[in-house]
Amino acid sequence: MSNIIQLAYLIAAILFVLGIKFLGKTKDARKGNMLSAVGMLLAIVATLIDLNLATFPEMLACLVVGGGIGLYYAKKVEMTQIPEMVALFNGFGGLASLGVALSDHFLKTEILAVEIDTVNSVSIIASVLIGGVTFTGSVVAWMKLNGKISGQPITFKGQHALNLGLLLTFLTVAVFTFLYQDDPMYITILVVISLLVGILVVIPIGGADMPVVISLLNSYSGMAATATGFILNNNVLIVAGSLVGASGIILTQIMCKAMNRSLMNVLLGGFGQTTTSGPQDGPQIVVKEVGVEEAAMLFDSASSVIVVPGYGMAVAQAQHVIRELMEQCEKRNIQFRFAIHPVAGRMPGHMNVLLAEANISYDKLIEMDEINDDFSNTDIVFVVGANDVVNPAARTNPQSPIFGMPILNADKARTVIVSKRSMGKGYAGIENELFGYPNCLMLFGDAKQTITKVVGELKEMS
Ligand code: TAP
Repeated sequence: MSNIIQLAYLIAAILFVLGIKFLGKTKDARKGNMLSAVGMLLAIVATLIDLNLATFPEMLACLVVGGGIGLYYAKKVEMTQIPEMVALFNGFGGLASLGVALSDHFLKTEILAVEIDTVNSVSIIASVLIGGVTFTGSVVAWMKLNGKISGQPITFKGQHALNLGLLLTFLTVAVFTFLYQDDPMYITILVVISLLVGILVVIPIGGADMPVVISLLNSYSGMAATATGFILNNNVLIVAGSLVGASGIILTQIMCKAMNRSLMNVLLGGFGQTTTSGPQDGPQIVVKEVGVEEAAMLFDSASSVIVVPGYGMAVAQAQHVIRELMEQCEKRNIQFRFAIHPVAGRMPGHMNVLLAEANISYDKLIEMDEINDDFSNTDIVFVVGANDVVNPAARTNPQSPIFGMPILNADKARTVIVSKRSMGKGYAGIENELFGYPNCLMLFGDAKQTITKVVGELKEMS
């Protein structure tokens, strides 16, 4: 039986690795998700059988109830709420690891009255620290994202020194936890410190940098699971945790690069706090409006178009009507492509998922680095609900909170048409000087409604 269980764990681990591999390409992502889910099911069933924790009817009942709750939330959650949901998932992962570490500690010290060896102690302490930080940090990230608390950075004097002091205290108390294992006071102090550090590390981070934090917490939840795997001596947990830990760190680094932040900056917290004086304090931006008919005429006479989708496209659900716009343009032999900024929208791959949903082929979605030099040779850049990712202040204004963030060079095109409802700001909460540029025209209104009208005009013209 033990061999069968180990084989099941091995297959589960292979499915996790394949799942992650497939997730790397948009067109295979569903397959990757499915493979990982099957791997997880296999790992859970194998563990339940191995530990003789439940009969088959009990397992089935738990799977139906747990799976049902998962299915309900997966169906209910809006695309724009996915980062919040991921934050909560990470938090639950951290809490589970913390719970396992505590139960193992108390089982051995209070019930079995055996000494915990060094490896097990280190795993328990690591699990308490990472699990606790991940839990409260993720809850704060979740509250910031869904507006339960302000998305603004919360800072105070001596914040970093306090965090460092708490970590040093944690390490000192950890030694006492190891030396005086049957005194519950020490492990209780460790739990309190880890929960506190989670809150303190995330509160100083501003809303625009939250995706990096979520990805980092995702990585932490994986590391906590790995530590738990060592406690329980469970190989598949170690493999799955390591995969989540490593992939989370890689994604964090990719995002840091896209936002021009160093990882150390993220780990210390407190960024996104640069003074917001900048274009918004300067002269009022004067914009030129364009109407639906005029916009349609501009498209009709163009030979190349690049669409820059952003968060507003997701809000308006304009991806399907953009595909119709693409069809109208391609009928006229106009080159039509999409420029994808790595942090456009509110989660990694947000734009890719939406455009794929509208059956726009993957080869039309061009990454920022590949397309940035092409903007200057493009007739029309159509900015749909994007703002921060095309804000030239990132290049020109050292005072801007987004200074240094790589942006799409939309401003370099011959004509820029911006579809948005008003002069409303983007996620970073700052003005965009692009809207006042001489080559920029504002097409005000909900993206789906206005683009539907533009498509209607184009259809009439043909
Ligand atoms: P944003 O800068 O957030 O701008 C979105 C714009 O969409 C707003 O200015 C808004 O203007 C417009 N909008 C909203 N509803 C609309 C509708 N129905 N129709 C048309 N326009 C609409 O978006 P972005 O350029 O995609 O930048 C993303 C930002 O989010 C970056 O700052 C990034 O750092 C941050 N962020 C990214 C992620 C990831 S991983 N992608 C996660 C969290 C945060 P109006 O109100 O005037 O319409």
